[in-house]
Amino acid sequence: MGRRALRRIDPNLDLSGWLAELDDLPQPATAAAMFGREAPLEVEVGSGKGLFLRTAAAEYPHRCFLGAEVVHKYARFTAAGLARRGLTNAKVLAGDALRLFAEWLPDQSVAAVHVYFPDPWWKARHRKRRVMRESFVRDVERVLEPGGGLHFWTDVAEYFEASLEVLATCSRLVGPLPVPERAAEHEMDYRTHFERRMRRHRAAVFRSEFRKTPLPST
Ligand SMILES: C[S@@+](CC[C@H](N)C(=O)[O-])C[C@H]1O[C@@H](n2cnc3c(N)ncnc32)[C@H](O)[C@@H]1O
Repeated sequence: MGRRALRRIDPNLDLSGWLAELDDLPQPATAAAMFGREAPLEVEVGSGKGLFLRTAAAEYPHRCFLGAEVVHKYARFTAAGLARRGLTNAKVLAGDALRLFAEWLPDQSVAAVHVYFPDPWWKARHRKRRVMRESFVRDVERVLEPGGGLHFWTDVAEYFEASLEVLATCSRLVGPLPVPERAAEHEMDYRTHFERRMRRHRAAVFRSEFRKTPLPST
């Protein structure tokens, strides 16, 4: 993904508290089981180099953040960033986010799901690899607590429209709710590395938020 080479990770840095393999996660993977505390859990799918995880974890110390990143070197890089800052409320999982949702996350256990700039898989024959697919959308709805939110941003208009369609047909999540663009005054004032790249190139960014509402009582 990123064009710049990743900075070298200090070999003496102990990543054990920040980096996990999917098969090592407790099952069910609740905040209490993974972080040893009862706290709202937020999950990022495809955390890349980890800018969102480190800024969100520092800003919201009473929430727990789990990133899932399938490319091991990015997961290690993210874990190193969290470890250097001593952020004990965030971890990264080196593995497939789709399996995490389908097999590890219990019903109504997640306060927010974040999907920022997922790989677009441009070619028609590769589109089935996209994370914003029917089974994933159903899992997002299942794992979200009532009132919880899905945050989905992309720079690809066609992927955005196709995902809104899947969300409308396969879930009862309410949205898309409008998300205003935040002013960025500092180099790192972006939600993710890809947002920074797109805005620097003046590329459009399509942002959406969806909410799970409580079911009406009968
Ligand atoms: C285009 S990058 C965006 C990274 C980051 N969200 C950002 O906005 O800077 C997409 C990332 O999702 C990861 N990814 C793709 N499919 C995944 C999956 N099934 N599970 C976990 N990570 C995945 C890729 O390895 C890549 O790091």
